[in-house]
Formats: sequence, C-alpha cells, structure tokens
Amino acid sequence: MCEKCGKGKFYVTTPIYYPSDNLHIGHAYCTTATDTLARFKRLQGYDVFFLTGLDEHGQKIERKAQAKGVTPQAYVDEICVATKELWKIMDISYDDFIRTTEPRHQVVVQKIFKQLYDQGDIYKSEYEGWYCTPCESFWTEHQLKDGKCPDCGRAVEKAHEESYFLKLSKYAPRLIEYIKSHPDFIQPESRTNEMLNNFLLPGLEDLCVSRTSFNWGVPVTFDDKHVIYVWVDALSNYITALGYLSEDDSKFKKYWPADVHIVGKEIVRFHTIIWPIILMALGLPLPKQVFGHGWLVMDGQKMSKSIGNVVDPVVLCDRYGSDAIRYFLMREMPFGADGNFTNEALLVRINSDLANDLGNLVSRTVAMIEKYYGGAVPKMGETEEVDKNLIKVAEELPAKVDDLISRMQFSTALSEIWKLVGECNRYIDLTQPWVLGKSEEGKARLNTVMYCLAECCRIVGVLITPFMPKTPARIFAQLGITDEKLSSWDAVEHFGYLVPGTVVHKGEALFPRIDIPKEMEALAALNAAQKAAKEAAAPKAEEKPAEKPEEAAEDGFASIDDFAKIKLKVALIQAAEPVKKSNKLLKLTVKCGEEVRTVVSGISPYYTCEELVGKKVVLLANLKPAKLKGILSEGMLLAGANEDDSVVKLLTVDGDLPDGAEIS
Ligand code: MSP
Repeated sequence: MCEKCGKGKFYVTTPIYYPSDNLHIGHAYCTTATDTLARFKRLQGYDVFFLTGLDEHGQKIERKAQAKGVTPQAYVDEICVATKELWKIMDISYDDFIRTTEPRHQVVVQKIFKQLYDQGDIYKSEYEGWYCTPCESFWTEHQLKDGKCPDCGRAVEKAHEESYFLKLSKYAPRLIEYIKSHPDFIQPESRTNEMLNNFLLPGLEDLCVSRTSFNWGVPVTFDDKHVIYVWVDALSNYITALGYLSEDDSKFKKYWPADVHIVGKEIVRFHTIIWPIILMALGLPLPKQVFGHGWLVMDGQKMSKSIGNVVDPVVLCDRYGSDAIRYFLMREMPFGADGNFTNEALLVRINSDLANDLGNLVSRTVAMIEKYYGGAVPKMGETEEVDKNLIKVAEELPAKVDDLISRMQFSTALSEIWKLVGECNRYIDLTQPWVLGKSEEGKARLNTVMYCLAECCRIVGVLITPFMPKTPARIFAQLGITDEKLSSWDAVEHFGYLVPGTVVHKGEALFPRIDIPKEMEALAALNAAQKAAKEAAAPKAEEKPAEKPEEAAEDGFASIDDFAKIKLKVALIQAAEPVKKSNKLLKLTVKCGEEVRTVVSGISPYYTCEELVGKKVVLLANLKPAKLKGILSEGMLLAGANEDDSVVKLLTVDGDLPDGAEIS
C-alpha cells in the first residue's frame, strides 16, 4: 500500500507472444491496451507491475529454426530483439519481460511440474493419436486435415505416445463453483457463459502436458524423454517472473494474485480453465480477473501472415507517430469486440480527432493567450452559466474515465475525454473570444474564458497520458507548465490548478493534417514496394543451382515441377451439412466452374453450416478422391491454423475471382 495515496499494488499482464518474425498491428493491440491500463494505474498512484514476454518453445519454433538453418535459441533471440524494439517504439512501459527459455522460468516450471506429479495431479499415461512417419509428428484426430497429416497431406497411422496428463477433471467442480460465485473473474460477462456452457459443464478431459516427439521445450526432470508441453510452460510465466519457488520470491509475495490477465478471446479458455486449475493444484490464489478482448481484423479476418493482410506497426508509427497509432487502437473499437482495421479509418481519425479537435483546441487557446495577454494566462474572473457548464464537464470527467478504464472500456473513456475537447471547441464558438477581445467590458469576460480553456487543455493533457504518453508533454510545454504536480492525477480531480501568469509558448501543430487521398496512395505504393522487396529477397528459381528431385525433397524445398502437380481452384460452397456419427466432418457441396463436387472437410468445430454457404474458398482439385465415413470426397479445402489449432480458418478469395478460377 502506498503511504502517500493509500493505493495498493496492481499486477497486470499481457499474454506472452509466440515469437513472430512478422509482428503486425494486431499484436500491438493487446499490448497497447495493457500498457494503457498500467500507465493509468501508475498515474493514480498504484504500485504497478506490468509483465509481458515471449512464449518461445514448441515444435513450430523448432521447425522454423531448422528451415532457416539456425538453432531454435538463435532464432528466438533474434525475434526477441525485434519485439522489444517494437515495444520501445510504441512506448510500452513493461516492468519485466519474461522469456520461457530463461533459466529463471525453466527451473521453476520444472519444480511446478514435479510438485504436481508428486501430489498425483499429473500422471503418466498414453496419448492416442495419429502419427505421420515422414514428418515424425503426432497429431490428434482434431488436428488432421481430411484424415491426413496437416503438414504434408500424407496418410497417417494410429499410434500411441507416452505422455503426462494433468487432472483437469478432478478440479472441474471446484472451478465451476468458483466461476459462478465470482462474476467478475471472466470478463466480458458473455465469455463466462461461453466457458461454462461450452467447456466446463459438458465435462473436462484431462490435459496432455508433455511430449516425446520433439525436443524444443522444458525437459521433465524425472523423465528425460519428455518435454513439458505448451500450457503448463506458458501459463506459469505469470508467477515465474515474480520469483515463485525461487530464492527471492518477494515480488511474488507482493504482487500475486494478478489483478488482471488481459488476453485475446481465443485464449480465454486456457486462462480460465487450465490456469486456475494449475493454481488450485498448487494451492495458490486465482487471478482476480481474466479479460478477453476481441481481434483487430482486416476484411473480416484475424490478421495473420498466412492471409497476407499484415500491417506493419513500425511503419505506421514512423509515419504518424506512436501516439496516433495508440490512440487509434484504443479509440476505434470497444475492447471486448472485434474491430476492422483500415488505413483510411486510421487517417480519418488522425485528422478529425487529433489534428482538428485536440490539435486545434490547444493551438487556438495558446494563440489567443499570446494575442490578448502577451502569453500570460489570465486570472479567472466571474463565471456565467456557459463557463459553469464547461467546468462541470471537466470536473466530472476524471471519475468517469476512472470507472471506464477500470472496466477496460478504453474506447468509451477516450470518447468521454473527447466530449470535453468538443465542449471546449463549442465554448470558443459560443463565447467568441475574438469579439470579447475588442472591448474593455469584453476583456473581463475574456479572462474567464481563456483561463477555462487553458485549464481544460491541461486536464485533457493529464487524462490522455495513459493512452498517448508523448503528447501531454507537448501540450504542457505549450501551456508553459513545468510543475510536475500539475500533470498528476491529484491535480485533475479539481478545476483551477493552473497558475495565472504562467507563460504559454506556441509550438508546432500537435498533429499535422494529412492529405488523405495522397497518403492512401503513398501507403499503397509502400505496401507494393515492401512486397516486391520481399519477393526479390526470396531466391529465384533460375538463380538456384539445379537440383535433383531427391535433393530438393531432402532439403525441404519443393521444386517448381513439384508445385505444378498441384491444381488449386476457387470453389463456391453451395451447401453444407454435418456428417452422421462424426463431430468433426462436414459434407460440402462446392461449385467449381461447370463442375459440382462433394468435399468432406473436418471443419465442423470451427464453422457452422450457415456460415459456410456462400464462401469462396480454395480447393485442392486434383487430390485423389477418397471415402470418408462412406462419402466420396472429391478434393480438399485449404485452411490455416494457429499453434494449438484453437483457431482454424478456411482460405478465402479476395475480390471477384469466379469459382473455377485456377490458382497458381
Ligand atoms: N503464446 C500464446 C499465449 C500464451 S499466454 C500464457 C499466444 N500467443 S500469440 O502470439 O498467438 O498471441 C498473443 C496475443 O496477441 C493474444 O492475446 C492474441 O489474441 C493477440 N493477437 C494476435 N493477433 C491479434 C489480432 N489480429 N487482434 C488482436 N489481438 C491479436 O496466444
């Protein structure tokens, strides 16, 4: 507890990210929100601990590193540097950055795993799955694509892998009780119902928590064939970073339980089922809240490298400043919901909210104080109704912003702040300072008007600090504020802290106006140039030494001849129905030019039949027909999946390509 302000500790986390060599604006979304909350709590006087980091283990990383010809450690080290650089550019004020490859994490994860094993919550059993011999990979029924290996498309065979399992089932009744009696635990509320109805109430299966089929993970200390698999490793970061079970666990004692884990909607399940059960098994208190935010999407799809709609946050910050990007991310959409990202929406917001509303207010206020008072802020005189109304809006604002940010309603908090900005601009129109400045009688009124405007600019400056860390200092410099107390939370709850006589200094426009059509063209050209640069960097077929087909296959490359064997076509889904006695397969009728085909696809866990009809998708048209559950499937639909297959999406087609069109 802080002795001065009586405020306690506040522990907030982002998920630890999978290392990505293509960080996109969607990645920045979650981290910006968490940073905004951390900064807000610090502004209010809380002792904040903000944790982020990287989730660096797993088979995918092992394979990517192999493809690049580097060790997995070297691969993640390089990405870690770029990730930290991005967070620096975006003013992400984390207190610690944990990497799951660090000894401080690994050693404690091993202790956790051993403790759970010793007390019988982790047990050894067999994991039944499907094995792809050429890929040396195990797949669950769920992960197969049309009954084949999802990586290479070849046949798989039933096999058993020895694995350790975590007894989720044992703790499920306690967790259900906990969730029901703690309505704030999972937010937004709709996600509580989703977790209860879709996962907990139907019954939990025990979770496989180790693998023997790859090596890039934390080894199980008492059984060195096994590495700890995904979630026990990843989720434990929230306590290993605090020194849990280490020599110095003072941070753990001080900050645990977390006040809020902020996570994307697709990983709410792991944070509200697996994580609480691990904590219950360890006898530790549960986090106070898990907040599941929506996705930043483009053309209706989650951004990802595989669908080619990535937007580079470094480029955007470089062009418009990180504050503008942070503002847009937090303003454009409610935090729990998905929101669309377009360059145009970003530019429109910069012009209207930042350049016009805020920028103009500050520059007009400072210019008028210079013009009518030689730069010295006047002393406020008598107030009239119009002034009282404005002061009321300003005085009521901090409590509103506090309430909204505490409930993660960042967008509404900003729109409330912008209501004050709007009120100020309207106040200028109503009071007409340029008329008041002309007469002696008017000048007495002008004192009040100009003081009110300058003080409102100060209050806005303080309140936007968590959202836009750089801009307030520029506003305060223009207002001539040097006393740090005036930029504190204590000085925002009441109107009138600005000291009369403070000398303002006109500065550069806070946000220069953008010529939107011109800028859109520039962005399009930039994207094209980036794409061309990437293509140029990739080795060209004719530049590569001639390879015998066997050699090509061995080094993992496909030759152009290999690719020529594949016939991909655009297909229109006309009908979809579940396949009897299968919880995975759907029978789809697809139109492919003149032809109509039946395709059986394992996408039922990810799409409803209604969602599929009308989609234009990519069909592997020359796949040898095969019978699945007695239905002849004539081809395969292409889809992409995230690391653990919790998100699987069909590849769809951009624009007006007709069905039947060939893809090459
Ligand atoms: N490594 C796991 C988390 C383990 S936490 C113990 C993971 N990593 S991730 O890199 O795939 O995602 C990290 C976060 O970024 C998630 O919260 C995810 O929702 C978020 N986002 C990734 N793309 C996003 C968008 N396009 N929009 C919004 N958030 C996005 O999951």
